[in-house]
Amino acid sequence: MAKDEAAGTVSPGAAPRYGRSMRLSDCHNVRDFRELARRRLPAPVFHYIDGGADDEVTLARNTAAFDDVDLVPDVLKGLETVDLSVEVLGRRIAMPLMLSPTALQRLFHWQGERAVGRAADAFGTWFGISSLATIALEEIGARVRAPKMFQLYVHRDEGLNAALIDRAKAAGFDALTLTVDTAVGGNRERCLKTGFTSPPRLTPASLLSYARRPGWVWNFLVRERFRLPNLETHVAAGTRTAMSVGDYFTKMLDPRLDWKAAERIRVCWGDRPFCLKGVMSVADARRAIDIGASAIMVSNHGGRQLDGARAPFDQLAEIVDAVGDRIEVILDGGVRRGTHVLKALALGARAVSGGRLYLYALAAAGEAGVMRALRLLRDEIERDMKLMGVARVADLGRGHLRWR
Ligand code: FNR
Ligand code: LAC
Repeated sequence: MAKDEAAGTVSPGAAPRYGRSMRLSDCHNVRDFRELARRRLPAPVFHYIDGGADDEVTLARNTAAFDDVDLVPDVLKGLETVDLSVEVLGRRIAMPLMLSPTALQRLFHWQGERAVGRAADAFGTWFGISSLATIALEEIGARVRAPKMFQLYVHRDEGLNAALIDRAKAAGFDALTLTVDTAVGGNRERCLKTGFTSPPRLTPASLLSYARRPGWVWNFLVRERFRLPNLETHVAAGTRTAMSVGDYFTKMLDPRLDWKAAERIRVCWGDRPFCLKGVMSVADARRAIDIGASAIMVSNHGGRQLDGARAPFDQLAEIVDAVGDRIEVILDGGVRRGTHVLKALALGARAVSGGRLYLYALAAAGEAGVMRALRLLRDEIERDMKLMGVARVADLGRGHLRWR
């Protein structure tokens, strides 16, 4: 933490000073993992993870929103143990923190989704798998015992959509999550500047960035070939044809996706849990109920789509008050601390999910990184529940919150 030498005080949240060398053991929170990832990734890959849309106002607000409310603990509760478990999407998970679906993971670290899946198993929580995953659904289904959520992007190629749903069913995925906030690609200016594409394309501008990360380049070249195995049966983009994610959204995804199509997908998925990811309005939360969704993820895609969108935590109370008794409400985005999780649960979220909170750790140190990050976050949640005097998640409520 930076010290204000004159006042001799420590300004909270000040950027810590990192030494010249940094190891996994130096990582004690998500911010530390972000720094280690920055040091280990080629700049185009780091900025793809770290960046948001336009001026990244929403990206920043997603996390800052949690600072507008304070926790009011109860004391002398004599708690030796606390129960972190919750039931969400029909499965009881060991902690109220889910791993959001994120694309291209073997670009961040060669172990990719295999590492994250082992961590989901170890911590007994939901594992979200993106349509743009770098491991086949069948392998994840065979390897991972944790509850598995397949995140569907609806493509223009309707045969691909049907194939993805059928493969997720056959692979034993426990829930289907339809992402609904990608009508077009968000304006990812960092990616425009670095020339980030999937698969990575070396350009004169990016060559130096990759040359500075020989370890990453070595793994990318000698390990298993990078591909999008769940899509390459139908499309070349992203696997054999380099494309920016923004262009992929705009050229490959179906902009005609509407409520009727979403309901058809829910029917096609069958009786297993169906979730909409990216719902931000009360009206849409109510429509999610009308089409038979089991849950919604209140999310703005980690600030990567519509800059200026409200933060999920800011929008949470309005949605929970309107529909929280009829559909499960998951808060997605901006979470970096155990106290963020508790604030969202106290406000009425059924559970919380995040992407960067484990992706930085994956990029920094593969499976060991993700395991450490999830242990630190789980320990924070447990410690914070004890300090709050709360034995079970269900005991958290708005009485524990005060808005500044
Ligand atoms: C994502 N996210 C995402 N969402 C989705 O539905 N399908 C996807 O393929 C991806 N891919 C993806 C890649 C990367 C690098 C990031 C950072 C995010 C969004 C993700 O599921 C989640 O909504 C956000 O990450 C939540 O914000 P935080 O937790 O990263 O602040
Ligand atoms: C992203 C997409 C892949 O946010 O969801 O990068």
